Amino acid sequence: MALGKSARLLATVAVCGLATGASAADVEVLHWWTAGGEAAALNVLKEDLAGQSVGWEDMPVAGGGGAAATTTLKARVAAGNPPTAAQLLGMSVREWAQEGSLGDITALADEGNWADVLPPAVVDFATYDGKWVAAPVNIHRPNWLWINAAIFEENGLTPPTTWEEFNTVAAALQEKGITPLAHGGQPWQDATVFDDVVLGLGGADFYRKAIIEADLDALGSDTMLQVFDQMRTLRGYVDDNFSGRDWNLATAMVLNGEAAMQLMGDWAKGEIIRADMVPGEDILCIPAPGTAGSYLFNTDFFAFFDVTGDMKAAQDAMANSVISPEFQHAFNKVKGSIPPRTDVDISDYDACALKAKEDIAEASANDALLGSLAHGHAQTSSVQRAIFDVVTEHFNSDMSSEDAVEELVLAVESASI
Ligand code: BGC
Repeated sequence: MALGKSARLLATVAVCGLATGASAADVEVLHWWTAGGEAAALNVLKEDLAGQSVGWEDMPVAGGGGAAATTTLKARVAAGNPPTAAQLLGMSVREWAQEGSLGDITALADEGNWADVLPPAVVDFATYDGKWVAAPVNIHRPNWLWINAAIFEENGLTPPTTWEEFNTVAAALQEKGITPLAHGGQPWQDATVFDDVVLGLGGADFYRKAIIEADLDALGSDTMLQVFDQMRTLRGYVDDNFSGRDWNLATAMVLNGEAAMQLMGDWAKGEIIRADMVPGEDILCIPAPGTAGSYLFNTDFFAFFDVTGDMKAAQDAMANSVISPEFQHAFNKVKGSIPPRTDVDISDYDACALKAKEDIAEASANDALLGSLAHGHAQTSSVQRAIFDVVTEHFNSDMSSEDAVEELVLAVESASI
């Protein structure tokens, strides 16, 4: 991989105060990138750091969306033994910074002019109290619908652009004995679908009011009733074995033709690419029904804990690496996301990434670039958990939409106090 290694090595050496050839300390990195495509993307970083004599101690905690990783991280920090860096979503970066556990990488960020090359929404999550505490590696879009093109073609179906069209297409597939929707019944996956339905039925302003502002009137509205009605309809389009299934196994069902569609973020593309299929051709990518023009986003950050000495030098080397345009280009191509740096040329990326880049520009211009609730960019962890609980309970029972809306309002109200 051409990462301008000699220039970077010199920079590392300068930061570390080491003679060329000497090795810096290892970085110990806690993350939840354990699916095939995710691990391949992480390898890009491991190799880059190895080229700079920075060793890698891996601390993977399986579990999409990062809930299990958060629990492990809390235990490590409570024991006074934080990792050098941890993969975190935006709201958690903020919460860890508030706790006072994160270090300060402002000097590096200023030197590299990070603020000039990153979108304001990303800078906002990477900084706390005027200091840089984390480095962003990607921008993911959770509101995609992935479609097995061959199944649609064989059955004369058109990709659905509204929830009503989705229901028609799904009913037609079901009639032919094809599972319409690949889904993994884990709270964060239910919430990924819920985000899509709230945005698709309510629009950007409703999503902002209900989800980002946690406005109780919006949460208790008729629109939210319709959202739960649609969630109930979707429950009828998943197979019997959905419970507890990992997201990448649900993606595999679409790739191998066991199911026709999946509502999932573009990390699914990592799996598509690894299966030697072409995103945008074999597997179509369109915005989740009703969400064209809006862009839900989430960014993975490496947040840097407060460490000293050799560990700090290795940490700085890692921060410089992940923010470099060369790394961001190589990593995001494999990960399925787009680089957060606005100055990276992605004209050699796949069609879905090119569409993502176009769509994010359009959404930002129209005030429709919105943080994802399911993926930690909309709410505090306590409100997020409260919403997850209601959504998952509703999805896995015969709870009525009326009861779900009532519970949602109560849960968010008490979690917000
Ligand atoms: C992360 C992605 C990850 C996905 C599934 C999301 O919250 O942002 O990087 O691939 O979860 O694990």
